[in-house]
Parts: sequence; C-alpha cells; structure tokens
Amino acid sequence: MSGKAPLYIHKLHEKYDQIDVCDINAVKEIHKTNSRFLKTVFYRNLASGAVHTVFSTRDTKFHSVHRRLLASPISDSSLTRFEPLIADRINLTVSKIKQELESRGVADVFKWWLFMATDIIGELSFGDSFGMLEAGKKNQYTIDMERLASYQPIRTTFPTLIKIASYIPLPMLRESVQAGKRIGMHAAQSIDRYRRLMAQNPLDPKPTLLTKLFDTEKNGLSLQDIRQEAHGYIVAGSDTTAVTMTYLSYAVSNDSRVREKLVAELMGLAEPITDKSLRNLPYLNLVITETLRLYTAVPLGLPRSVPPEGAHFCGFQIPGGITVSTQSYSLHRDPSIFPDPYSFNPERWENPSKEMKDASLPFGGGSRICLGIHLARMELRMATALFFRALPDARPSKKEGMSESDMIMESYFLMAPQGHRCLIET
Ligand code: HEM
Repeated sequence: MSGKAPLYIHKLHEKYDQIDVCDINAVKEIHKTNSRFLKTVFYRNLASGAVHTVFSTRDTKFHSVHRRLLASPISDSSLTRFEPLIADRINLTVSKIKQELESRGVADVFKWWLFMATDIIGELSFGDSFGMLEAGKKNQYTIDMERLASYQPIRTTFPTLIKIASYIPLPMLRESVQAGKRIGMHAAQSIDRYRRLMAQNPLDPKPTLLTKLFDTEKNGLSLQDIRQEAHGYIVAGSDTTAVTMTYLSYAVSNDSRVREKLVAELMGLAEPITDKSLRNLPYLNLVITETLRLYTAVPLGLPRSVPPEGAHFCGFQIPGGITVSTQSYSLHRDPSIFPDPYSFNPERWENPSKEMKDASLPFGGGSRICLGIHLARMELRMATALFFRALPDARPSKKEGMSESDMIMESYFLMAPQGHRCLIET
C-alpha cells in the first residue's frame, strides 16, 4: 500500500540471517558424517579462550586430529574403567540429597546434580576433583564459569564488545575478563599438577580422559591445547548432564504412574548396582530417552554454514554462506512424529518409528555428535537408578515458594530451569 516493499524486504534481509528448518531430511543432510555444513563463527564466540577446541573449531582437519585423540578414552568400552569413580560420586550425591532432605525438609536437586556432574567431569579431565560435593558449595572455578556463561548471549551477539572488554571501564565487563583469566590460571595449574603426577609415576599414572594427549611430542599438541580441551570438557559435560538429570527427577517425581513403574523396575535389581545391570533395563531407558526429547539440554539450533554450492530444503533454494539450523526444540515437538508432543510419556519409545529416531537430536549428529554421549548416558542411568531407589516417594515440593514456574525452560545455548533450583521432598 505504501510502495515501500523493497525497503521492508531489505530490512528483513538485514535483520534475519539465519534459517531454521524443521525437517528430518535437512537434519540428515546437515548433521551427517563429513558434512559440508560447517559450524559457524557462533561457536568461536561461544567459547572463551584464545585456542580452539574440538567443540569450537570450524577447521575439519584440526577437528579430526583432536577428535581422534580424545575419542577412544571416552568411548563406551573404555569408560568402564572410570565406573567405580563415577558410581562413588553418584552415591555421595544421593546421600547429600538425603541429608539435605533431613535438615531442610526439601532438597535442591538442581544444585546437587550440578555438583555431581561438575565433580565427575572435573576429576576425569584434570585428574583432581573440585570437591564441590564434599564442600556442598561451588568453588571459584565454577563461579567464574557461571559468570562467563552469563555473558554468552553478549559474547555471541556482540563479539567485538567482548574483545575490547579489557579496555572498557564497565565493572560488569571487567568482571567477565577477570573470571576468564582465573579460569585459564586454574586450568594451567591443574594440568601442571597432573603432569608432575605423571612424571612421578610414568608407567602407571592415574588415568584421565586426557592422559593420552600428554604425549605431546607424538601428537603435536601443546600444553595450552590440552588445557583448553580440559576446560571445554568441563563446560560441555557439567550443565548439560545436570539439567537433564534435574528435569528427569522433576518429570518422574511429578507423575506417580511413571514414578511407581520406574521404582518397581529398579527395586527388582540386586546389589551392587552396576552400569551393566542398568544398560538393558527397559523402562529406565525409555524414561531417559523421553527426558532427552522433552527437556533437551541444547534446545536451540546448532548453527551451520551452507556450503558454497548452496542447498535445497523443503522446496527452497538456500544460497551458500547462509546460516541454517535444525532446532531440536521444534523437531522434538513435531506432532506428526510425536503425538501429544508436550506430554511426558516414556511409553512412546517402546517401539519407536524410524521418523522418531531421525527427528531426535539431543546430542547433535554426524562427525560433530556429542563426544561425551556415553559418559552422559552412564551418568544418567546410574544417577536415576540410585536416586529413585533411595527416594522412591520423591515428589516436587511447594515449600520455599517453589512452583512450576521455577521449571520453565530458559535457554541461551544451554537450557536451565528459570528458577535455577528444583526442590524435591518425600
Ligand atoms: C546429557 C548430557 C549432554 C548433552 C544433552 C549434550 C549435548 C551435546 C550436543 C547437542 C552437542 C553438539 C553441539 C553442536 O553440534 O553444535 C554436543 C557436543 C559435544 N559434547 Fe555433549 N552433551 C552432553 C554431555 C556431554 C559430556 C558429559 C561431555 C564430556 C566430555 C560432552 C562433550 C561434548 C563435546 C566435546 C562436544 C563437541 C564434539 C565435536 O564437535 O566433535 N558432552 N553435546
């Protein structure tokens, strides 16, 4: 009507530079092995530190070298040697939850699952625990990590602002720079300590997920590379697992039918509970899969660059260089694939269709699929089993003003409950 259509469309072009495709074929094409859709610069801005990691790099050669070195110690079969340590940490978590229930009348499981996941991945990466479960509080390293994470939206939206932050006299930005420096120092000290331990016992050092990387002459990595990968593991492996466990505890304890069915299955197990005894437990695994669908820890699209030759999705031609994503939040709620998509219904996975599997993206896919998937699954199985065996009557609490609104999902890249707590009572 006003004759301003070209201007309006130009403004849209200026405003929107990303296409989100909710389609299984697009998922298969974008997230396949050796995909030509590379991670965008978004990942560079998401990660802190000057050195790239297996998570942040766009360079396929760098990625395959680092991934090859990191993959075998964190593979499904190698992880069994870390099982005693993981089980020990989870047992301690559950006993801390029980203690808090006794002394406070409620337990904040979000807090405890976060301490659990961070202590586990910290010890598996640095060879030394953060000791947060024992102390019952966060240490400086994780406080700094949280501070940096709170700047993620700024880092990804205004990367230049962060680059010049050291020169800007804004206390908020200064704080973030200081936190980044302290994190770097802590990682450096931890890696040095582990290197000294290795020197003292070169034939049989305490194994970590990164031990293999220390043979720097053979693999060409620097100590800074190792430090950065260790820090990357802690970022990637703590909140993701903790948030998944938080929503699992909440969803199961909120639905007495699901809870009773799960508890009945778990109570049938003989002591000691081992990962082997949990792997094939039908209902436990259905519950975990349904949690990963409805409460995906990374619900946003995983942005990728369309290769120079362009792409064709859902009848649309997309030029090279455009950012595309396939966000799991929408894929996991496609009603034609997941009927009644907003309900938590583990039984839907009893005989999953091919479409259901293809539309599931909780761990990403292809060459960039989550490296910690087996560790995450082991933690989820063990933590769910030990928690519901110890607290078969757990239910969400209304004490201390806790309500459903605390559990509304909030997401910048990783998701977390809006109230940053999840109170459970028995
Ligand atoms: C329930 C827990 C977890 C969830 C939901 C999760 C989810 C994801 C997702 C969606 C990606 C793909 C990111 C992308 O393509 O942009 C990813 C990548 C990654 N995750 Fe996880 N993750 C979990 C636990 C862990 C753990 C415990 C570790 C520990 C080491 C870990 C390490 C990584 C790494 C290193 C990558 C990058 C892989 C690459 O680019 O080659 N994750 N994760």
